[in-house]
Amino acid sequence: MASFALFLFTLLVLSSSFSSANGQKNNRTVFSLASRIGINYGRLGNNLPSPYQSINLIKSIKAGHVKLYDADPETLKLLSQTNLYVTIMVPNNQIISIGADQAAADNWVNTNVIPHYPQTQIRFVLVGNEILSYSSDQTWSNLVPAMRKIVTSLRAKGIHNIKVGTPLAMDILRSSFPPSSGAFREEIVSPVMLPLLKFLNGTNSFFFLDVYPYFPWAADPVNNKLDFALFESNSTYTDSQTGLVYTNLLDQMLDSVIFAMTKLGYPDIRLAISETGWPNAGDIEQIGANVLNAATYNRNLIKKMTANPPLGTPARRGSPIPTFLFSLFNENQKPGSGTERHWGILNPNGTQIYEIDFSGTRPVNNFSTLPKPSNNVPFKGDVWCVAVDGASEEELGQALNSACGRSNATCAALAPGRECYAPVSVAWHASYAFSSYWAQFRNQSSQCYFNGLARETTTNPGNEVCKFPSVTL
Ligand SMILES: *[C@@H]1O[C@H](CO)[C@@H](O)[C@H](O)[C@H]1NC(C)=O
Ligand SMILES: *[C@@H]1O[C@H](CO)[C@@H](O)[C@H](O)[C@H]1NC(C)=O
Ligand SMILES: *[C@@H]1O[C@H](CO)[C@@H](O)[C@H](O)[C@H]1NC(C)=O
Ligand SMILES: *[C@@H]1O[C@H](CO)[C@@H](O)[C@H](O)[C@H]1NC(C)=O
Ligand SMILES: *[C@@H]1O[C@H](CO)[C@@H](O)[C@H](O)[C@H]1NC(C)=O
Ligand SMILES: *[C@@H]1O[C@H](CO)[C@@H](O)[C@H](O)[C@H]1NC(C)=O
Ligand SMILES: *[C@@H]1O[C@H](CO)[C@@H](O)[C@H](O)[C@H]1NC(C)=O
Repeated sequence: MASFALFLFTLLVLSSSFSSANGQKNNRTVFSLASRIGINYGRLGNNLPSPYQSINLIKSIKAGHVKLYDADPETLKLLSQTNLYVTIMVPNNQIISIGADQAAADNWVNTNVIPHYPQTQIRFVLVGNEILSYSSDQTWSNLVPAMRKIVTSLRAKGIHNIKVGTPLAMDILRSSFPPSSGAFREEIVSPVMLPLLKFLNGTNSFFFLDVYPYFPWAADPVNNKLDFALFESNSTYTDSQTGLVYTNLLDQMLDSVIFAMTKLGYPDIRLAISETGWPNAGDIEQIGANVLNAATYNRNLIKKMTANPPLGTPARRGSPIPTFLFSLFNENQKPGSGTERHWGILNPNGTQIYEIDFSGTRPVNNFSTLPKPSNNVPFKGDVWCVAVDGASEEELGQALNSACGRSNATCAALAPGRECYAPVSVAWHASYAFSSYWAQFRNQSSQCYFNGLARETTTNPGNEVCKFPSVTL
């Protein structure tokens, strides 16, 4: 009898939905569909507002949930003063120790959850970030054990309304198109996906997905249409296997994961979107990264995800999909291509890059007009990589040395007496070295970035004597 009652209690608590999870504190949020939209609060920038100011900004845009990439105690303490629902994360490098040792899991929960809960409305603990996108090591095999141990620790403390998940990227699929062909990569099925699906199903948790229509569209803008990626298409795609009709790329991507889960015997696990968005700027060669597309994608996304009753996807009509937009700020210290530093809806000074309404009630065509972009088609021409203005000579000198160090050919023209030696300045030499290095190694995936010291330009920086190597697109 006792165990039956406990079972029933657990079931009731676990089955409370995302948007209504523990709405007692604020009854309004139970019924507010706006509370379904969350925001990712990434902090990889050296010019971002304080956590206090950032949380005020999160409130001002009327997000309902916030997802942190860690469990920063200062931020969690400040969040106790808000009605925001909170998601925290276990870093990748702690998965092995937590997976191997219940005491390590207890310790993590004692340190990162107990001091803040329930005043801070923590609702999800996500273990690791996209770990299946990195090469296999013990982290993979410890993922689900770590998730189980975190649940055990939470339950032991009497906490039943925090769910545990792990965000995965679309590269977990070996096939995603047509959606009905969705299937997980062979090598992750037995070691990770089957135990993970069993865990998520058994705890009534969500399958968290980082899903970006921007990437498949940008990789093949000829076969994928921009308006289909931006939820603006009037044409549809019919999956001939299922007869399901698609009106946008996001639904296709989400359903490919649903079909992959179904093939492994788990047709009912709920999806949540841990990250999605569209870059508002990027490198010259990065098609479609602009403010108008970003605004269009995110506004339409919010409208779709806040629709009442919920729209779901063609494979799951009517299912709500909890969604976290990526990201709050443009983060200037994210490495990689230019888009990486431009996913924000806010500038670091807190101003909006474009207007957005998280409640989804404002009609998409009722925002002020944004400039028409010129980069929705691929750029054709020469591009150079030069030093940014305002960098210190010391930093530039170090970057110059490292750019010249990989191959003797890169900076040969900078030697005394050679054609690019003059003018003798660090900025000039660094600009030449960056252009030369990038032209030489771009095909080995080097970026025009150099820790933020370089930027792309279509203005030829050379002169009659010294010709800068360029990348021709
Ligand atoms: C919560 O709000 C709903 C809808 O407005 C209302 O029907 C209900 O009585 C409220 N419950 C409490 C406990 O205030
Ligand atoms: C998934 O969970 C549901 C609900 O608890 C259960 O009925 C079903 O058998 C589970 N599926 C698998 C494959 O374990
Ligand atoms: C879709 O149809 C609407 C209404 O007919 C029209 O205004 C809009 O321009 C069309 N969009 C595209 C991308 O063709
Ligand atoms: C905030 O930053 C943006 C982007 O750098 C800039 O365009 C804008 O003028 C700034 N606004 C204020 C009020 O500082
Ligand atoms: C559309 O925008 C105008 C001007 O900002 C505003 O007055 C009006 O209320 C908006 N309409 C809706 C339905 O949001
Ligand atoms: C660069 O030149 C130096 C001196 O001529 C030579 O020792 C070295 O092997 C060269 N390195 C490469 C990568 O070619
Ligand atoms: C990369 O480009 C450089 C310069 O154009 C060329 O010399 C090199 O062979 C290319 N390497 C690969 C792996 O394509």
